[in-house]
Amino acid sequence: MTDYIIRDIGLAQFGRKEFDIAETEMPGLMALRKEYGESKPLAGARIAGSLHMTVQTGILIETLTALGAEVRWASCNIYSTQDHAAAAIAASGVPVFAVKGETLEEYWSYTDRIFQFPEGTANLILDDGGDATMYILLGARVEAGETDLIAVPTSEEEEALFAQIRKRLAASPGWFARQRDALKGVSEETTTGVHRLYDLHKNGQLPFPAINVNDSVTKSKFDNKYGCKESLVDGIRRATDVMMAGKVAVVCGYGDVGKGSAASLRGAGARVKVTEVDPICALQAAMDGFEVVTLEDVAADADIFVTTTGNKDVIRIEHMREMKDMAIVGNIGHFDNEIQVAALRNHKWTNVKDQVDMIEMPSGNRIILLSQGRLLNLGNATGHPSFVMSASFTNQVLAQIELWTKGSEYQPGVYILPKALDEKVARLHLDKIGVKLSTLSKEQADYIGVSPEGPFKPDHYRY
Ligand code: NAI
Repeated sequence: MTDYIIRDIGLAQFGRKEFDIAETEMPGLMALRKEYGESKPLAGARIAGSLHMTVQTGILIETLTALGAEVRWASCNIYSTQDHAAAAIAASGVPVFAVKGETLEEYWSYTDRIFQFPEGTANLILDDGGDATMYILLGARVEAGETDLIAVPTSEEEEALFAQIRKRLAASPGWFARQRDALKGVSEETTTGVHRLYDLHKNGQLPFPAINVNDSVTKSKFDNKYGCKESLVDGIRRATDVMMAGKVAVVCGYGDVGKGSAASLRGAGARVKVTEVDPICALQAAMDGFEVVTLEDVAADADIFVTTTGNKDVIRIEHMREMKDMAIVGNIGHFDNEIQVAALRNHKWTNVKDQVDMIEMPSGNRIILLSQGRLLNLGNATGHPSFVMSASFTNQVLAQIELWTKGSEYQPGVYILPKALDEKVARLHLDKIGVKLSTLSKEQADYIGVSPEGPFKPDHYRY
């Protein structure tokens, strides 16, 4: 029986060829396969994975299975799946539920499918953005009669989520509590999902330990920054083919993703302006040479707008009404609510191609909206390159090993991997790019108060 939902199994060979290339660029994951392939520390683990089903994620999945895990997978965004990668995974016998351009209803039913192990439950979640974790924890609260949230959807997303929870509750009473109670923990990939986990913990609603992979230095200071530096402009180019050099681009937010995005646009020759609410990040942007402005002041003049904040309602309808004809609007943050797309629904939309729409504003000016406001580097392009994802996913695998082998030693809460492992992840990526590391003499190490083998920095060091 086929236990997958994908676009076309015929794409598997193409996906496999791209896996072969990606493996050569993912030294961290390949080193873990070598180190743990025999001892199989993930034997017995049943991992429900919700993370963009790309080629790079294919290499992550095959690393988890090489270490002994059973895995079921869905994408964490309706536009981010690479259908050939999903096909290669399905052909290898790993259940995967992901189609580029799936509907919201399908999205939540696929999230449900990742928990349907033959044994009845998953025991670990590997999450990106927190949807899989939220599905189980919210479902369990509704099941227990703790919340009537389900009655008041405030968006299309919530409507689809609540419908799926209702469906599951009707089909199998007690299902959500069983899933929740079987979980030993979750490892979370991104800033937005991590915010959700800290909130859950603060409200006493996190019943298991969670590892915040995002805040490993070798994740957020690399994937969020150098990843977006490559994939942001890639997405805009594939969507629009617009000449970037000379254009005025506005980047909303100057955190890790904003820093990479601003650098990406500058590298392409755009004249880049930044908006920020945090004085520290605003000062950083200014001292990196970017003009720091408010969106109100530049909405009418800029050519390209990108949100990177992880916040909601950043580009609002009043800004879009001001924009010049053919302004490009996109988001690279995790959720689509950074741009008020719902307020555009009653305008005239012309679909240009998949994930590119032209929308006519009341003034007659048109804006080009990328991926309907969903993260454009994965919707319009293929996300970050393999090398940087190797660092992120090496952290993910280490986090899954930690939760599976030592999870019971942790209280419910949100944890970060120890610095020694963070340094190990970096170390595994040096050879590939010919980095020669210097070594500390015993005297030097004593003088700065570290061990010659590391860790080289205190936990509060910010890089
Ligand atoms: P961050 O917290 O480092 O940066 C966000 C910045 O936005 C902060 O400096 C904050 O002060 C600023 N901000 C918040 N509200 C604002 C507003 N109204 N106007 C202007 N600035 C505002 O977070 P990070 O790591 O940069 O992540 C941002 C988002 O990107 C998150 O949703 C994260 O999950 C997502 N992400 C997306 C990736 C992708 O490949 N598309 C990769 C990594 C993260």
